[in-house]
Amino acid sequence: MTTSSFEFTDKNQQVEVTSANKSLTFSIVKPEIIQVFQDYGKSTHSYAVEGDKTVDTKYAVSKDADHVIIKTDALTVKVDADLHVDVYDQDNHPLVIHYDGQRESINQNIDSAHKKIVRSEGHEVATVDEASKTYYEVLNQLDDDEQFYGLGDKTGFLNKRGYEYDNWNVDEPRPHIESFTHLYKSIPILFGIKQGHPYGLFFDNTYRSHFDLGKESAKYYVYSADDGNLNYYILGGRTLKDVVADYTYLTGVVPLPQRWMLGYQQSRWGYSMDPKRVEEIVDKFEQYHLPLEAIHFDIDYMKGYRVFTWDTDKFADPKGFLTSLRKRGVRVIPILDPGVKQDDDYDIYQEGLKKGYFAKNKDGSVYINRVWPGKSAFPDFGNPDVRKWWGKHCKFLLDKGAAGIWTDMNEPATFDGDMPDDVVMTDEDQPSTAKMMHNVYGHNMAKATYNGIKDATGKRPYVITRAAYAGTQKYSTAWTGDNQSLWHHLQMSIPQLCNLGLSGFSYAGTDIGGFSADTTPELLTRWIEAALFSPLFRNHSALQVRNQEPWVFGKQTLDIYRKFLNLRYHFIPYLYDCFKNETETGLPVMRPLVLNYPDDETVRNMNDEYMVGDNVLVAPIVQQGQTARAVYLPEGEWIALDSGVQHSGRTNILANVPIDKLPVFIKKDTLMPWGQAVEHISDKPDTKMTFRLFGNAATYTHYQDDGIDFNYQKGEYNQYVVSVTADGNCQIKLDHHGYAGQYQTIDVQLNDRVVEFKFDDKSGSYVAAK
Ligand code: GLC
Repeated sequence: MTTSSFEFTDKNQQVEVTSANKSLTFSIVKPEIIQVFQDYGKSTHSYAVEGDKTVDTKYAVSKDADHVIIKTDALTVKVDADLHVDVYDQDNHPLVIHYDGQRESINQNIDSAHKKIVRSEGHEVATVDEASKTYYEVLNQLDDDEQFYGLGDKTGFLNKRGYEYDNWNVDEPRPHIESFTHLYKSIPILFGIKQGHPYGLFFDNTYRSHFDLGKESAKYYVYSADDGNLNYYILGGRTLKDVVADYTYLTGVVPLPQRWMLGYQQSRWGYSMDPKRVEEIVDKFEQYHLPLEAIHFDIDYMKGYRVFTWDTDKFADPKGFLTSLRKRGVRVIPILDPGVKQDDDYDIYQEGLKKGYFAKNKDGSVYINRVWPGKSAFPDFGNPDVRKWWGKHCKFLLDKGAAGIWTDMNEPATFDGDMPDDVVMTDEDQPSTAKMMHNVYGHNMAKATYNGIKDATGKRPYVITRAAYAGTQKYSTAWTGDNQSLWHHLQMSIPQLCNLGLSGFSYAGTDIGGFSADTTPELLTRWIEAALFSPLFRNHSALQVRNQEPWVFGKQTLDIYRKFLNLRYHFIPYLYDCFKNETETGLPVMRPLVLNYPDDETVRNMNDEYMVGDNVLVAPIVQQGQTARAVYLPEGEWIALDSGVQHSGRTNILANVPIDKLPVFIKKDTLMPWGQAVEHISDKPDTKMTFRLFGNAATYTHYQDDGIDFNYQKGEYNQYVVSVTADGNCQIKLDHHGYAGQYQTIDVQLNDRVVEFKFDDKSGSYVAAK
């Protein structure tokens, strides 16, 4: 390599480094974020990063014999004449260092005859992916202590080191296990901790791509893609929280949900075959005093699975029916799949056909594959007009009283083989193919649905999606797809939701109880316990499996289930506060311990505990038959929620956990809002709130608004600062008073007494009752 052509240009926070006729462009987004781009002549439109995120940033560029050096207050990037990139943090600790050696493939050098022998018993023999070898790869050194997190919904454990993953959305009905490289979502954000120093790498490329995180070799990790531009962001910061916040700065936060969305939801494929069945379910919830916010209507409510239809043979008056449920406090969330039935007598198909809104074969004919309705066409959601069209049609469901929309099968799933890569789709205003648009298909469907609901209702939309790409969190909650009623799926739900949270998806959940396979009373009970703080809180099961409503296993299961639903409702104001914080900080609600305690090596591989915000630690039982477990408490003092016993951290304690118990610990010196255990969350403001003190002294900022629309963005919200000093002095300050539904009474529960405050209209402040 000659170094004579090794040079750089620097203009408006863009540094282009050129060497031997190749160039890499570094865009300084802000001190902690630098984008690295190499043009392969492919689309530069980003579905994840919307709008220009660049802020005016102080930086310096210099060159010595070997490197071009770009320096901000947070990052130093060194580029050599081979255009290899090394990154250091503000204190010069290495974060990302290029690996110079060769890749060492895992030995699969068995000849074809032996491969055949192995396969004859049904074993899989991995095929070497030739495409990834011929396009680009980013190869970096791996340190012995380096750990990885993020990557969205991938199977396996919290720490992704030692495994390989693909980014290619698939519908995966087999039991999800740790050797699977991909599921329904592609969220190529990798967080690393190297020698104790955090960083992130976000690869914004929608084509199929791969990570090998130290599986091939302990010396390096690698990202490679099959196509697209080289386009990634280096994320820095002092703490892992800073780095996670960089990622949501780029790709967006989860918008504040409506309050009821944090409550309990019940679902089952098959309920909506018959309104009587739905009523029976709601009756039972009432009879057993179980809280319920929503019932999800699976594909059965439609006419022959045609989207935007309602089977009036089953439901004579859908609107009347949904209204009657709503009066009982229960909302309905109907499902929509992308596949539009190929049927000449069906207006949606006709309209899509006429307007050219469906994905096409290379020869220009409409691409058809089979899904639930039979042969179907697939809306070309990358086209903004198609998104608008779809969004407008959502009104059909909203007018009937739907409180949100469930978008499913949007990988897209197809029953007659995979959709070929060359299927013609649209990338905003440019022609494209499924090869590029596949991984954002679900994203664009969710976005279309979100905007349709927002335009039609003005409320905070409720969309739930199965497929997603980076950034989908701005438009939809997500669930982890078709899990099964298996203990290892309960175990996996914790790392999976924690990694989804780190990957921007603060509002996510698993099918509680398991979707496929038959649950057991013990598994269902442990699942509702473990999922107690899962932001999305929905029990869902498949058509063909045993029922798993809270009452089907008798009184003991029902009583425990009810006890935990009530506990969830006590925590809803806290969860809502966590969501408000998330909209400001980009940090997830449900999170792994490593996010709060990155310097504590014990928690870097913690798969069976999680935290909710900064102050709540949960250690559920996720093993069949277990009634005691070790609970690791990080530094500080912790108070057991149920017994009030205080424990010192940085050690394990043994917790006895009979079937009706869930170990929850509150960090000492925390004030916690404590909502009421209602059966339905009301649209009317709560008149009373309670705060519970754990420890001796604390201050807490609590947020309140109408929990429904966007008026809070115009200042219609209240912010309360509640404080208790060590000598028992208790105060409430209404810091911001923009919402007329302020609490009339606030109780602060101290260790030895309750202090009651009343809102005084005249002074607009809270006064302690004498
Ligand atoms: C898919 C979904 C599942 C749904 C079923 C029928 O399997 O993942 O949740 O119940 O389709 O619509």
